[in-house]
Amino acid sequence: MAPVRTAAAASLLSVAIISYFLCKTTQNKYSQRKKLQKRRNGLVAAIGNTPLIRINSLSDATGYFGESRVLESWRGSVKDRVAVKIIEEALESGALAEGGVVTEGSAGSTAISLATVAPAYGCRCHVVIPDDAAMEKHKEGSSARRRALEASELLSTCRKENQINASDSSQINGHSISEEKQNMNFSSECKGGFFADQFENLANFRSHYEGTGPEIWEQTGGKLDAFIAAAGTGGTVAGVSQFLKDKNSNIKCFLIDPPGSGLYNKITSGVMYTREEAEGRRLKNPFDTITEGIGINRLTENFMMTKLDGAFRSTDIEAVEMSRYLLKNDGLFIGSSSAMNCVGAVRVAKALGSGHPIVTILCDSGMRHLSKFHNAEYLSEHELTPSATGLEFLGLS
Ligand SMILES: Cc1ncc(COP(=O)(O)O)c(C=O)c1O
Repeated sequence: MAPVRTAAAASLLSVAIISYFLCKTTQNKYSQRKKLQKRRNGLVAAIGNTPLIRINSLSDATGYFGESRVLESWRGSVKDRVAVKIIEEALESGALAEGGVVTEGSAGSTAISLATVAPAYGCRCHVVIPDDAAMEKHKEGSSARRRALEASELLSTCRKENQINASDSSQINGHSISEEKQNMNFSSECKGGFFADQFENLANFRSHYEGTGPEIWEQTGGKLDAFIAAAGTGGTVAGVSQFLKDKNSNIKCFLIDPPGSGLYNKITSGVMYTREEAEGRRLKNPFDTITEGIGINRLTENFMMTKLDGAFRSTDIEAVEMSRYLLKNDGLFIGSSSAMNCVGAVRVAKALGSGHPIVTILCDSGMRHLSKFHNAEYLSEHELTPSATGLEFLGLS
């Protein structure tokens, strides 16, 4: 009987241990969720749920729109909700810990959004900005990936050193965090790194599939015929187009593509190609456009989730003219990608004919574009001085 009793006791013990661990895991998950909920009541509560506004000048003056609405982002940028989703998913999966460093390679909005949102989650942010702001985006990404790895390596080094002396790792047996490690810009309290990877991380897509798409659907009461936006990572156009198509496959979804980007050709002819990259014409910088944050010459994981019916192209001067037109007529002070999106909305309106509700995105405010897009001197140097009195630059009187 003794071995039987021992076996029974052992199995009871293991059941107890398993239930203890299950209990612990459930408790940890519960407290993690409670912590996240608390975080959401802070700054994060101001992100998302942006109002849909009617662009009266485009809707009324041209007669092409039944209604043209825009999901605006005046409180920050369209990237804020992406930063929230990326950080939340990473915290939930354990890839990022509170006190950890979120790294990203970005010269623009995503950097600002991550740097703003990370502290709201008790994390820090380390952004790699290229000295040539328009350099190939994936190069910034690889530096940011390396930085995340460095932060995680530093964490494991600190852990090992703390095993030797938890109170003061710099004093014992010559064990100290090497100068090289300290030069990495991360403090020894750093809880590891996480590479946000906005181009390939599908949390970006999900932020729009679960956030922007449903917001548009609810705010229009499902009454829209088309959606159009430009793509940088592709997260916005992918998340929104897939959500809207899932709701109603008759809603037409389009891309508007800036100069230097190969996506228009990819969608319309299956080949990633841009005129600016043609032999003998290749610019020093293939993203030599005044627009910022949009246009790309590779297929990202996020962009591959798009459900599109077609694409349109636009130019820098059209974006500049559109921004001035909307400022004069609607009081909208918008950034370059937003202006290009509105050019796209007019292109769709012309293609569909009158009376079709169309939605696009105002990604950020003109305040973020003062040095180039809203700088008369810069525009004049680049022969982009606006001169239109109406929408004649789009073939409308
Ligand atoms: C100002 C701005 N507008 C538009 C976009 C494009 O959005 P997405 O990356 O979702 O394609 C970006 C992307 O960084 C951006 O910074």
